Amino acid sequence: MAKKTIAATDVKGKRVLIRVDFNVPIEDGKITDDRRIREAVPTLKSVLDRGGSLVLMSHLGRPEGKGYEAEFSLAPVAVRLGELLGKPVKFPSKDCTDDAAASAVAGLQAGEVLLLENVRFAKGEKKGEPAYAAKLASYGDIYVNDAFGTAHREDGSMFAVPKSMTGKPRVAGLLLEKELKFLSEALSKPAKPFIVVLGGAKVSDKIGVIDNLLPKADGIIIGGAMAYTFLKALGRGVGTSKVEEDKVSEAKRMIDAAAKAKCELYLPVDHVCSTQFSEMSGDIEVFDENIKPGFMGLDIGPKTQTKYSMALRKAKTIVWNGPMGVFEFMPFSTGTRQVGQAIAEATAGGAVSIVGGGDSAAAAEKFGLASKMTHVSTGGGASLEMLSGKPFTTVELLDNA
Ligand code: 3PG
Ligand code: MG
Repeated sequence: MAKKTIAATDVKGKRVLIRVDFNVPIEDGKITDDRRIREAVPTLKSVLDRGGSLVLMSHLGRPEGKGYEAEFSLAPVAVRLGELLGKPVKFPSKDCTDDAAASAVAGLQAGEVLLLENVRFAKGEKKGEPAYAAKLASYGDIYVNDAFGTAHREDGSMFAVPKSMTGKPRVAGLLLEKELKFLSEALSKPAKPFIVVLGGAKVSDKIGVIDNLLPKADGIIIGGAMAYTFLKALGRGVGTSKVEEDKVSEAKRMIDAAAKAKCELYLPVDHVCSTQFSEMSGDIEVFDENIKPGFMGLDIGPKTQTKYSMALRKAKTIVWNGPMGVFEFMPFSTGTRQVGQAIAEATAGGAVSIVGGGDSAAAAEKFGLASKMTHVSTGGGASLEMLSGKPFTTVELLDNA
């Protein structure tokens, strides 16, 4: 069921309480990737332009509800957001529910913006304690969920807060709307051929996605270290490659399920290997089929790159989640770059491409391909859970359109 959005909600003179996901990487007090903040701006501007005021809530990192901790402060985010909006962002207190925060919220004028400090500093956030949730709920006339990256978590600000705002409008932000459009609706009837590209370290993270998309996909392309658990299931020599021993039988089950579903499962046919997990040291060699003992696979090989790229160029819908190799290390970055390039080319030819957040989004950015994709998600764990077909209670509770 489509959700009502902030664009369809009257906000004039209203205080709009928005849960955003400003959980951005920060090093030495500097934001190293502000994409999640930039992606929230359309929602924020939509409210400000129509005469509403903004009370924003977010978490950052994983503090455990023990009060203020400087390393997890949203202070750098308040500064960056002010730059992006071109107006000051009030950042009143180290505690999102104390008197200073509450009175700053009460004094907010139309067109003004206030960011609360990290909600995970509060003991009540993780469990959604009623008194805590009621306090945050009192800050808004309208609740907006625009935190797709956190939408798989039933934290207080995601769930208990809107729950306790029954009777007031509770709607989707524009970023959440866009994420749902691509990670859920677009995949309910994907244009064919539909190819899913999965990579990264662990099979265990991707089992739900494979099981959910197998019946719809024409092909599933596998790369990254997770490929070695599959190859081990087929009895191939994998050397010292990373294998999840306890998932080998699951891999075998998925190979059989793919055959039954007439979904082609693509596994690497050659491998760029090294004797060490390192960018600088170790002997690098390419092996077909069986990897020599003492070597580990760190990227898909050139034949695999060609094979995968050819399959992708014919696709009309593509989902990409997870790199093909250790793309952070130059000698093992080619597979991910080539696959990303092939997806970008398919997109230029009319395919819809959807890139999961986390590592694949980082890879797309690194290789200058992000703007060539149809949609790059802001969610890591959230995009995986949505691609697994799991229901999101934090979205379900929002008003229907
Ligand atoms: C994320 O980056 O995965 C989201 O912001 C959610 O954070 P969490 O995994 O700590 O709940
Ligand atoms: Mg996470």
